[in-house]
Amino acid sequence: MSFEDHLSISIGDHILHRARWNMRQPLIAGNWKMNKTATEGQVLAQAIRLGLQTSVVEVVLCPPFPVIPIVHATLQGSSIRLGAQNVHWEDAGAFTGEVSPVMLKEWCQYVIIGHSERRQYFREDDEMIRRKVLAALRHGLIPILCVGETLAQREAGETEGVVTAQTRRALEGLTPEQATRVVIAYEPVWAIGTGRAANGADAEKVIQRWVRGTLEELFGPAVAQQMRILYGGSVTPENITEFICRPAIDGALVGGASLRAETFLGIIHETARVKA
Ligand code: 13P
Repeated sequence: MSFEDHLSISIGDHILHRARWNMRQPLIAGNWKMNKTATEGQVLAQAIRLGLQTSVVEVVLCPPFPVIPIVHATLQGSSIRLGAQNVHWEDAGAFTGEVSPVMLKEWCQYVIIGHSERRQYFREDDEMIRRKVLAALRHGLIPILCVGETLAQREAGETEGVVTAQTRRALEGLTPEQATRVVIAYEPVWAIGTGRAANGADAEKVIQRWVRGTLEELFGPAVAQQMRILYGGSVTPENITEFICRPAIDGALVGGASLRAETFLGIIHETARVKA
């Protein structure tokens, strides 16, 4: 008899639902993008470390590559995790300008893969993204896989097709065990850096029906239930509640608001309050 069978017999459906939700630890990740020098990154990481007042939420900082070592040193002994913003799929070789998962795993636990800015400006396609996900997993890094539709795709009614195809193509062929280690961030492209966040109900619909629905088809309901799915796009301390009050949404991938300790901590602490 499984853990969940036990739960359903002993405490009933309503509480089982909450228990399942709570099995997924909330996650707030800050994507610094191409911002912060090493000196500035150290100051920001230190301020976040000193201001953090919760262990309910898992916190991940994703600085640019050259800033990773100093942030790593700054976070020594804290529970805050470190992530990179990209990775190559090969372990080593003649790939000028690239960084391999072998290099990253000395510093990081997480890596963002397939961010829309990489798809758009660096021509990353689904096959490259799939290879990066596999490479990260091979070396024990947790991929934060980004999926999301553009404004044109949304207006053409293509959100479902785009989001399900991106999810499926990136993860097809993974074992269920590998899948449980993947985090997905639903980031509608039109909401990124625009100040125009998605509506919470819309984001929940995409995440629940199309992202988690695709995960169920690929890996079965039990595995899909364990996988964390974040929302990203113009998240602030003021609007975070709109997203994390929904059981399907496990946290956020934050851009602009992760560049100041005050706003990033505001998002983390509000998440802790709502999800606790
Ligand atoms: P903003 O929070 O600045 O909209 O960025 C979101 C994002 O792209 C995180 O990866």
